[in-house]
Amino acid sequence: MKQYAIKGGNPLVGEVEIGGSKNAALPILAAAVMTDETVYIDNMPDVFDTNVLLTALQGIGTSVVRTDRHSVTINGGNIFTQEIQDDNIKKIRAAYYPTGALLGKYKEAIVPLPGGCDIGCRAIDQHIKGFKALGAEVLIEHGYIKTKADRLVGSHIYLDCVSVGATINIMMAATLAEGTTIIENSAKEPHVVDVANFLNSCGAHIKGAGTDVIRIKGVKKLHGAEYTIIPDQIEAGTFMFAAAVTKGDLLVKNVIPKHLESITAKLIEIGCEVEEYDDCMRVVCSKKLRPSHVKTLPYPGFPTDMQPQIAVALALADGISIVTDTIFENRFKYVDELTRMGANIRVEGSTAIITGVQRYTGADITAPDLRAGAALVTAALAAEGFTTVDEVRYIQRGYEDFHLKLQALGAQIELVEDPREIQKFRLKTG
Ligand code: EPZ
Repeated sequence: MKQYAIKGGNPLVGEVEIGGSKNAALPILAAAVMTDETVYIDNMPDVFDTNVLLTALQGIGTSVVRTDRHSVTINGGNIFTQEIQDDNIKKIRAAYYPTGALLGKYKEAIVPLPGGCDIGCRAIDQHIKGFKALGAEVLIEHGYIKTKADRLVGSHIYLDCVSVGATINIMMAATLAEGTTIIENSAKEPHVVDVANFLNSCGAHIKGAGTDVIRIKGVKKLHGAEYTIIPDQIEAGTFMFAAAVTKGDLLVKNVIPKHLESITAKLIEIGCEVEEYDDCMRVVCSKKLRPSHVKTLPYPGFPTDMQPQIAVALALADGISIVTDTIFENRFKYVDELTRMGANIRVEGSTAIITGVQRYTGADITAPDLRAGAALVTAALAAEGFTTVDEVRYIQRGYEDFHLKLQALGAQIELVEDPREIQKFRLKTG
């Protein structure tokens, strides 16, 4: 089983290039099959989740040609079934996106119910409500979501909660419906806007993405396009907080600073220096961090996907911090692991009360999910001594070459497969 072996203590210093957004890439890859013409997508992250989705789309007849590691041409003109039968897709949350895409195009979709990180109850009732409002029948049967419609007709949909997935899924289906759809209380995340921009570049009529009311005028069909995916807000934020945790000096390149505002504001509040440039951010941390109160919220609030990373930083701050996750109720599973490294954190419901400690100490720990896994790695980079992090497959779902990027910044980290390799790493790093 693959693990990271880490010897902590080196501040992260240097420049790191951020890849394309995973959470924009997933719906855009699914939406690419909504036209029979060829779509070229660039700046795609090469991570487990995007690769699983591409394989599943190939399984229904989509032509997928990788032009290089981060570019792909997709043609959905020869899709021969609307039923996705793929074991791996069940493991990813984005399994729900082909439903919106296929339902829009073919008025039918049979897709395995989504899996993904175990971070709390991850209902899809708002997706279903949206599909039904457009005129589809929806059935959950034998682990599949089955949707079918004679015709899809635009509708006025008020989401009961702000959901990224439901907003995007309904937007995809409504793009090829008859008439106008209005989604109220829609999610405003940068990846929602990116999907709308992609669909518009294929001929869709979507207005208001990035606000809480999205208007979609249905079109008969979409055409091919060339599209570049936005940089990954969360990968960027993870490296920015890694600079804070390791007392480093990092230039985080290829980002959209506007998407990072809530993250930047917290870094400054806890005592880091942040310099903003056109498409990069410099984060310098030289002092003891200050405590803070954090509440995760839908965009433009502080992202739930950055909650473990900020908690790892605050656990080294000078005082007591309070972190509340209002989006997912089970996103504190990393706390037990961080406690093994010396953190002092008490969890009460959806709130963590963090009393800062002087330092982390290395330990054998396990990544419980994607973002928490990445956050624990940053703790290990700051810790005294050796750490091994198990279950790195979670981290590989969303971070491309994570350990290689960290190595280039001076981190002592290696991907290892067995105790012999761990021993070798220990001898090498002393
Ligand atoms: C997306 O998940 C992301 N995943 C998540 O990123 C991210 O944490 C989340 O949005 C919030 O930003 C992908 O894009 C693949 P939601 P999603 O629907 O769409 C409730 C990562 O680390 N809800 O916005 O599943 C739900 O339970 C991952 O990259 C309903 O009640 O999230 C949650 O409390 C993890 N009914 C809240 O809304 C629904 O029908 C937000 O969920 C849908 C959601």
